[in-house]
Amino acid sequence: MENTQHAGLIVASNRLPFTLTRKADGGFQVEPGSGGLITALLPVLRDRGGVWVGWPGTSEEIDNIDALLEEATRKSGYRLRPVLITEDERRKFYHGFSNEIIWPLFHDLQTLCNFDPSYWRVYQNVNRRYAEVLAQNSKDGDFIWVHDYHLMNVALELRRLRANVKTAFFLHIPFPPLDIFVKLPWRFQLLHALVEYDLIGFQTLRDQRNFIQCVRTLMNDVAVHGKGRLLTLRDSGRDVPVGSFPISIDFNAYVKRATGNEVADKAAELRKILPNRQLILGVDRLDYTKGIPQRLEAFRNALMRYPELHERVTLIQVVVPSREDIPQYYDLKARIEGLVGEINGQFTRPGGWVPIHYVFRSLEQSDLLAYYRAAEIALITPLKDGMNLVAKEYCACSIEEDCVLILSEFAGAAAQLQRGALLVNPYDMEGVADAIYRAFTMDITERRARMRRMRRAIHEQDIFWWVDSFLRAAIAKDLSAFPLPEDYVPVNDIGGMSL
Ligand code: G6P
Repeated sequence: MENTQHAGLIVASNRLPFTLTRKADGGFQVEPGSGGLITALLPVLRDRGGVWVGWPGTSEEIDNIDALLEEATRKSGYRLRPVLITEDERRKFYHGFSNEIIWPLFHDLQTLCNFDPSYWRVYQNVNRRYAEVLAQNSKDGDFIWVHDYHLMNVALELRRLRANVKTAFFLHIPFPPLDIFVKLPWRFQLLHALVEYDLIGFQTLRDQRNFIQCVRTLMNDVAVHGKGRLLTLRDSGRDVPVGSFPISIDFNAYVKRATGNEVADKAAELRKILPNRQLILGVDRLDYTKGIPQRLEAFRNALMRYPELHERVTLIQVVVPSREDIPQYYDLKARIEGLVGEINGQFTRPGGWVPIHYVFRSLEQSDLLAYYRAAEIALITPLKDGMNLVAKEYCACSIEEDCVLILSEFAGAAAQLQRGALLVNPYDMEGVADAIYRAFTMDITERRARMRRMRRAIHEQDIFWWVDSFLRAAIAKDLSAFPLPEDYVPVNDIGGMSL
């Protein structure tokens, strides 16, 4: 029987919020991870107690792993449970199925997919392992919240194990349109696996709509009811709500940190080193979905067509290393570095202006915030993105509300920010170049009006709103207390046109 009164919360994600790393003396230490999901969910787990299940960051055998993880969260009221997988499984499950198939396909880049059948087998096995650890650590009626594309099969595996739990899934990346999704050799299996969840959440109405279209077309026995932000699938007598929940950031925490002395000093230092110009900032993980080469070409185009930008702008492009074991990622790094060299070679004034400052490393948070504070313009132009939290972080840190956000219309964030940002098609080199010039010449009144609108939306629908609205949909199947922001207009996949 369900014991809803004492239902525990269990979170599952590819990685645990703490990672085991080797120390100089050969032993292991547990280090906290960072990121929006961790900020949002750890307080909820602390309040209610609960468990987080995931990969501990290493495939090495560690005798005292449970004790190490126990120690890291001793006084916190929640527990960490590791899912142990071999190096080979990790390669096929994480690098292979997750990042060489689902990642490119769901970002509409099917030509980059490597549909190796062994990846699918290992993906199923590893998802089963997650389900086993979840089943061992849950009791009847518990609520299991599964995150992202690495773990789409977990609910199905839990059902096979006859675990009496409620499950919900949130996809952090986009869900592709039907004609792209059908390229997946395991399209039927994956859709059936998703429908095993008791709630399915997407970032935007665009993703929700794509998923629903796939269900309508590929699953004859499933009916769709309702309209708007929370729909219902009826599958053999079960009702499965399907909603859209735009993820966000801890707005107040960003404002607080961005106004601190350390960040202010670092931002002032940057301004001193790069005076008399506007700084344009790009910050991305190394990833082909981020559109970095296309952005560099657009910047080159702007410098060619608008010579008045020479010496008056500097592009700071920060690239954070990521997934470098995957061939497309290291190829991309070489391409970006080639382009930066070319463009700087073409425009640099010896002894003076260098148009692009390129940073390839992970940044301390205070350095990242200093870049946000120092830059007058952010250039965020992914080819497709689930949400893009850099855009929201940048706005939160624009304390004086005098900065301009240039944003891809294919980022999930465009649905909430389109009335404040300059929206661009990242493939349109001249269009992006024009937007750079428009941002450069935009007067303060327009900057303030636009930025204020965006900051209000991000403040009102912050990360805590996101957690609350998701849990509310799971428990009450009702989102009337959580309307989308007034500014929210669903963005179409084609041309950013409003639906
Ligand atoms: C995206 C995914 C996350 C993932 C992150 C970093 O935002 O939605 O699930 O954690 O990229 O990628 P990585 O492969 O380093 O975890």
